[in-house]
Amino acid sequence: MTKNINIAIDGPAAAGKSTISKRIAERLQYIYIDTGAMYRAITLHVLNNGREALDHLDGLDIRFSNDTNRAIFLNGTDISEKIRSRDVTANVSEISSISAVREYLVKMQRVIADEKGVVMDGRDIGTTVLPEAELKVYMKASPEIRAKRRLKDENQRGIDVELSTLVQQIIRRDDLDMNRDISPLKKAADAILLDTSHMSIKEVEDKIVRMAEEILKGE
Ligand code: DC
Repeated sequence: MTKNINIAIDGPAAAGKSTISKRIAERLQYIYIDTGAMYRAITLHVLNNGREALDHLDGLDIRFSNDTNRAIFLNGTDISEKIRSRDVTANVSEISSISAVREYLVKMQRVIADEKGVVMDGRDIGTTVLPEAELKVYMKASPEIRAKRRLKDENQRGIDVELSTLVQQIIRRDDLDMNRDISPLKKAADAILLDTSHMSIKEVEDKIVRMAEEILKGE
């Protein structure tokens, strides 16, 4: 194997992107970047400080920890738990449709991926952030299956929520993410489509690692 590659993983909410991307990054010894967490960080910041905060994005310090935990820090504070709150989830699609927010984060994401060896997940990685990524995957699964997976996560975190509420939230978020004007969620023409509805995490992970290894061997 020679040079590292970049891997772009896109798809709708709760398709399993972050779980799988994290595992792929561990196996390949790559850096994992959860771009959704970055949009959530700005959303939390706006909820705490008001819309004026959007005029001063350049002063924000957003970082991930280097360990496998991939905690996210905003101006030095670990906000990994807070960005998963209901309030942030309810507002993140709107905040992420603001062009100043996207420009700011896309620039940061490209700098991180510049050295290669990055697994980046999000909505616009293959189409906009890293159109030159050597491997692009678009993961999809039905809203019901994604809601069931999310329900399991929420229950594990001690949160009680109805499955039907989660299905509705997921459908609403898909609609906002797919129909916004700037960088909507869309499969890149050259992305590999993976329907994960009936695949285990391990199956998806193995498939993507195999594809990455094929590319690395061919380099
Ligand atoms: O992956 P997630 O559910 O944590 O992402 C939260 C929101 O952030 C998602 O609804 C849309 C937005 N997002 C985006 O617009 N572009 C990305 N690359 C990643 C996330």
